[in-house]
Amino acid sequence: MDGHVMSTGKVAAAAVLGVGAVLILQGGDSAGIGYHLVWRETGLLGAPARAVVCIIAGFSLLAVVWLYRLLFRPLELLKDGRSRARAANEVRRRRKIGELPPVYPNGWYRALDSHMLERGEVRSVTVLGEQVAVFRAQDGKAYVVDAYCPHLGANLAVGGQVVGNCIECPFHGWQFDGNDGKCVKIPYAEKVCQGMRCWPSCEVNGQILVWFHCDGENPQWTVPEQQEITKGEWVYRGRTEHFINAHIQEIPENAADIAHLAHLHTPGMVSGVDLRYTNSKIWEFVRHDWKAQWEPESEPNKHCSQMLVKHALTVFGHHWPLLDVQVVARQVGPGLVFLLFNHSFLGRGVIMHCVTPVEPLLQCVSHTIFYQSNIPPLVPKFILRAECIQFERDVMIWNNKKYISKPLLVKEDSAIQKHRRWFSQFYSENSPRLQYRRDTLDF
Ligand code: FES
Ligand SMILES: [Fe+2]
Repeated sequence: MDGHVMSTGKVAAAAVLGVGAVLILQGGDSAGIGYHLVWRETGLLGAPARAVVCIIAGFSLLAVVWLYRLLFRPLELLKDGRSRARAANEVRRRRKIGELPPVYPNGWYRALDSHMLERGEVRSVTVLGEQVAVFRAQDGKAYVVDAYCPHLGANLAVGGQVVGNCIECPFHGWQFDGNDGKCVKIPYAEKVCQGMRCWPSCEVNGQILVWFHCDGENPQWTVPEQQEITKGEWVYRGRTEHFINAHIQEIPENAADIAHLAHLHTPGMVSGVDLRYTNSKIWEFVRHDWKAQWEPESEPNKHCSQMLVKHALTVFGHHWPLLDVQVVARQVGPGLVFLLFNHSFLGRGVIMHCVTPVEPLLQCVSHTIFYQSNIPPLVPKFILRAECIQFERDVMIWNNKKYISKPLLVKEDSAIQKHRRWFSQFYSENSPRLQYRRDTLDF
C-alpha cells in the first residue's frame, strides 16, 4: 500500500513537472496565451523562472507525500536476504562441526498477517519446507491446505478460486473443504475422492498461524490472545521482514545470551547495523545499556519463557531517564515472541516477533507492531525502526555463524544451556533432521 502511495506521489510530481514543461514551452505561443497572462501576472515570464517554479512545485508535492507517509502510514521494511548458494555453503560448513538439532520444531508458526489476505483471496506460502495455500472464505475465516492438488498436482494458490468455504482447483475444478481438506465436488464425476492435507490453523492478534507437529498431533497449546489488538485499542503500525540463513534455534537463543547485549547492542543505533563500523569512535557518545534475565515458565505454560529487559540510554555519559524502557519478551513455543512495551509517556504496544522456517536453514522473521491508537504513529514506527537496527546486528551474526552443539561456555553463560534444554521440548523422536546424500545436499 505504501508503494501505491509512493507511486501516486511520483505520478503527481511527474504530472506537475510535465504540465510545467508544457507551460514553459508554451510560454511565448499564442496557443498558450492564457498561461502567458498568468505568468505575467505573477511576474514570472522568463522560461528559467517558470522552470524553477515547476521544479519547486514538484518537489513540494513529493515532500508532502513523504511527510504523509512518515506521519501516518505504517512502516514496512521487507528485506529478502535469501540465497540458496549461501545456505548450501553454510550447511557444508556445519557438516564439519557435527550435529544440528532437528530442523522443524513442533509448534505454531505465522503464515501471514491477517491484513495480507482479503475475503475470497488465496495466497501461496512456504512453511517448514512445504508449499501451502492460505485462503479466506467468504464468511471471513482463513484456512490452510496443502498447495498441490491430489488429482494431478496443480497449485491451488495459483489461479485457485474460493467458493464458499472451499478452494477450487484451477486445473479441473475439483473443490476441497477448508475445514477438513475433504474433496466435496468433482465437476465431471459422480463420486468424490478422498481429500487433501489440511493444516490446523488459527487467526489471532492480526495473524494467521499454522500448527506443525511431526507426528500429525493436534495443537498442544493455544496462541495467547492480546486483548488490546482484538478490541482495536492497539492498531497495526508496521512490519519488517528478514530472511535469515540459520537454524531456527539460534534465533530465540539470543534471549538467553545475556552477554551479547552489552557487546553487540551497546553502540547507539546511529552507528548502524554493519558490525565492522558499529564500534566507530564517531558515535561513541551514544550508548545503550541493557539489563536482562531469561527464565522458562512453569506448568501449564512450560512451552513459554520470558526475558525481562531494562534499557537505558546515555548521551555523552549523561543518562536520560525519560527514555528508560522496560520490555517483556514472552516466547510462546519455538516460533512466536510477544515483545511488550509499557512506557509512561511513549505508551503501550507489542511487537510480534515471528520466526517461520522456510527451509531447514532459512528462516523468515517478521516483526509486526501494534500500538495504542491514540499515540502518534511516529512513535511506534520509531520503536520498530530502532528494534530493526538492533535486530539486523544479530542478523549479520546469524547469517555468518556456525551452530556449535557443544559450545565453550563460562558460568555467566549458563542461561544458554538452560535455554537449549527448554527448547528441546519442541523436538520429538520423529522431528525432521537435515539429511545428506553423498554428492548433493538433500533437504
Ligand atoms: S489437478 Fe486439481 S483438479 Fe485436476
Ligand atoms: Fe541480539
